[in-house]
Amino acid sequence: MTWRVVVADRLAASGLNLLSGTPEIEVIDVAGKAGELDRVIAGADALIVRSETRVTASLMARAPHLRVVARAGTGVDTIDVHAATRRGIAVMNAPGANTVSAGEHAMGLLLSLVRRISDAAAAMRAGQWDRKKFEGTELRGKTMGIVGLGRIGGHVAQLARAFGMQVVGHDPYLLPERAAELHVRLLTIDALLRAVDVVTLHVALTDETHHLIDANRLKLMKPTAVLINTARGELVDEVALADAIREKRIGGAALDVFSVEPLPADSPLRGLDRVILTPHLAASTAEAQERVAMEISAAVRDALVAGDLSFAINVPGMGGDLLRRLAPLLDLARRLGRLALALADGPVKAVEVAYGGKEEAAQRPVLVSALEGLLAAMNAGPVSLVNAQVLAEEKGIQLGMRTGAPEAGFETSVGVKVDTARGRVRVAGALIGGSHGRVVRIDDYHVDVAPDGWMLVVRNRDVPGVIGRVGSALGSAGINIASYHQARRSTQGGGTDALAAINVDQALTNGILDKLQALPDVLDVRLANFGD
Ligand code: MLT
Repeated sequence: MTWRVVVADRLAASGLNLLSGTPEIEVIDVAGKAGELDRVIAGADALIVRSETRVTASLMARAPHLRVVARAGTGVDTIDVHAATRRGIAVMNAPGANTVSAGEHAMGLLLSLVRRISDAAAAMRAGQWDRKKFEGTELRGKTMGIVGLGRIGGHVAQLARAFGMQVVGHDPYLLPERAAELHVRLLTIDALLRAVDVVTLHVALTDETHHLIDANRLKLMKPTAVLINTARGELVDEVALADAIREKRIGGAALDVFSVEPLPADSPLRGLDRVILTPHLAASTAEAQERVAMEISAAVRDALVAGDLSFAINVPGMGGDLLRRLAPLLDLARRLGRLALALADGPVKAVEVAYGGKEEAAQRPVLVSALEGLLAAMNAGPVSLVNAQVLAEEKGIQLGMRTGAPEAGFETSVGVKVDTARGRVRVAGALIGGSHGRVVRIDDYHVDVAPDGWMLVVRNRDVPGVIGRVGSALGSAGINIASYHQARRSTQGGGTDALAAINVDQALTNGILDKLQALPDVLDVRLANFGD
C-alpha cells in the first residue's frame, strides 16, 4: 500500500526527505504552486500545512481518503478540528517546536520598536544619517505584561527578566506555584494593561480570545506603552489599534500576525509611524523549521504506516469499541467537567473523578473526558481525549480517580470534584436509560437537570420571591427559560439556602449576570456553557 502525503505549505527539506525515504509513502509537494492543491487533494491520505492553507470542512470533503491533517506549527486554528473529528481525521501539530523562536521574535520586535532599529536601518538604506530622530528607550526597569503564560509566554518571561524587566502576567488558569516559578505576578487583564510598559500576547485564538485587545482595552494602556503580537492577528481589533496609534494614545506596536494574511497592501497598519510589521515570521528560523518538519513528518509517517495516533490532538488513545460503547457516559463526564469549572473559583489545583458503574475499563476514559470538558471551558487551546490528561498535568493539576457505588437511585453515575485555593465544588450526573445524561447533584443539592446549552446556577437565601425576581430579570432581558429546577440544601425542608439550576436558551452577557447577582437574597450566580 502506498500512502499519499500532500504537502501544501513550505516544509524543511529534512522533513520531506524523511517522508520520501519511507517506501510506503509518496510525497506530493505543492507548496507555493497556486491551484495545485485543488488538483491533488482528492488523492491525499495525509495533508501537511503551515499557516497559508486553511483546512476547511469543504477542503476535507474533497479528500475522501484523508486520515491525517498535520500542522507544521503549534496552533491548529487554521484547521477545522471539529469537522476533521467528525470525519474521523486525526489532527496533529508540533507543540513546543517553535517555543524558542517565537519567544525570541517577540523580544526582537520589542527591541526593534523601542530602539527604533528598523526605522533607523530603513533611513540608512535611503542614504540618511540622523542620530537624534531615532533616540530610543531602555528595557531595563520597565514592566512587561505577558498575556498567556504557556510555553511561549513562559519563555518570554525568562528573556524579559534577563533584560532586567519586571514581569507581570495574565493567565486565569495558571497556578500560583507556576507563576512563582516564573517570577511573574498575576493580574487581571485590565490591571495588567494599566500597569505595564509592554504588552505581549501569547494566547491561542478561540471564541473567547477573539479581539481580546479591543478599543476599550487599548484605552487602558499608558500613552507610552507598546503592544507586541506574535500569536494570532484576530486577538487584536486592528482598526482600533491603528486609531490608538494614529491618535498617539499608545506608544506603538510590533505585529507579526494579522487577521488577514497576507496583510492587504492597503491595510491602515502599513502606513503608520511607530509600527513595525513582519510577515508571520516568529517560527521562521532554521532551527524551528528543522524541528517542526522532523517532528511532524515522523508523526505523519507513524500514523500512516504504523497506525500510531499518539500525536493526534483529537483521537482518543483508547480502543474504538470501548469508546463507542461509553459514548453517552463520556459525553456526560465532559459536560460535568464544564459545569464544575463554571462553579469553581480561581485556578484549579486538583480534580477527582468518581465513576459509579460496572464497566471496569471506563475509569480512564471517564477521567479524561471530564478533564477534556474542564480544559475546554478554560480555553486551554486544542484539547481532546488524547491530550487532556497531559495538558492538565502540565498545568500542575493533581488528578484522582475512584470507582465505587453509583449515586443513590442510579445504575451509572459520574462525580467530578474540583479543588481550588478558595474551596471545593462537587457535581454529579447519572445516565438515565443507559443513554441520557442528567446532572443529579450540585454540591449538597439534589437536582435533575439536562446539561445542555447554557445553564445558570443561582444560589440564594431560601425566602419567598427569589424565583419570581430571577424569572423577571431574565424575562426583561429577553432571555427565555427552558427549565428551572429549584433545590433546597436538605430534602427534610427548612434549609437556609437554596440553589436553582436554570436552562436558558441563549448566552447571557456579563451585564445580565451582574443584574442577577445584585438581586435581593441572591448569593451567587454562575453560567455554564456546555459547548453544544
Ligand atoms: C504556529 O502556530 O506555530 C505558527 O503560526 C506556524 C507558522 O509559522 O506557520
